Amino acid sequence: MLGPQNISMEEFRLFQKYVFDNMGITLADHKITLVQGRLSKRLRVLNIPSYREYYKYVINDKSGEEEDEIFDLISTHVTEFFREKGQWDYLNENLEHILEKKRDKRIRIWSAACSTGEEPYSLAIFLHGKMPDWAQWDIKILATDLSKVVIRKAARGVYREDDVGGGQKGIKNVPRHILGSYFELLKTESGERAYRIIEEMKRPMTFRTFNLVYGDFKPFVEKFDIIFCRNMMIYLDPEAQRKLVSNYHRALVPGGFLFVGHSESLTQNKDEFKLIKPSIYQKI
Ligand SMILES: C[S@@+](CC[C@H](N)C(=O)[O-])C[C@H]1O[C@@H](n2cnc3c(N)ncnc32)[C@H](O)[C@@H]1O
Repeated sequence: MLGPQNISMEEFRLFQKYVFDNMGITLADHKITLVQGRLSKRLRVLNIPSYREYYKYVINDKSGEEEDEIFDLISTHVTEFFREKGQWDYLNENLEHILEKKRDKRIRIWSAACSTGEEPYSLAIFLHGKMPDWAQWDIKILATDLSKVVIRKAARGVYREDDVGGGQKGIKNVPRHILGSYFELLKTESGERAYRIIEEMKRPMTFRTFNLVYGDFKPFVEKFDIIFCRNMMIYLDPEAQRKLVSNYHRALVPGGFLFVGHSESLTQNKDEFKLIKPSIYQKI
């Protein structure tokens, strides 16, 4: 079978608008080749010859399944366990102080745009390692992403040793002692090694799909102590970023923390957050 034709600028504009209207992500014009490369796989699978026809297929699909396919193809899901060391160092030094203030022994954390789950599981493992009285605490970690595909994978909590899909580093950079304590070794049907996160680390987790740009934040009545939203805001335009950060401000307890990606900053929300260290902010 012949592959799809090249995408024209006119066709690209259709997807540019679709992605903005549904994901809130701004695709710059120079992303045209990247978008063609990612969507072409889908055109081949569906045997659709042009991007215009594929666009019609997408907007006429009322099941929502094709929308999920696009969300998954357009997004970058790259992530890894214990990403951005400086932030873990900060938590390591300050956790005791943060916990001292929690008289009710309740901690609420949100890993927003969590991709395949490495980030929320890192949080659970980190807290467990630092809190000898972990079992006496009421700890909940909400882990959300726009993509159903990655949320399913996150909820399974199984990571292959050489999991490099989407550029992920998989389990390789996880220290041996953590692998030994928090993962069970599995043999997959193909004989590969895979690691499943232990049940105890899944217990505080709730996995959900949630659209950070167009979703309704009102149901988040219980406030969070810490929100991680790393390496997602860079894909948003300044107004969408500002709105999202204001929503986080409302969703946090007074003095709550917002951790962002190392190339992200909250320049537009100076009245709402103070900078503690690069990529670490505290609610004012
Ligand atoms: C690069 S990953 C970041 C993973 C993790 N936070 C980290 O830093 O390692 C970006 C994630 O943002 C998600 N995403 C993109 N647009 C979104 C939106 N509008 N709402 C929620 N999640 C979104 C993608 O599906 C993707 O999994």
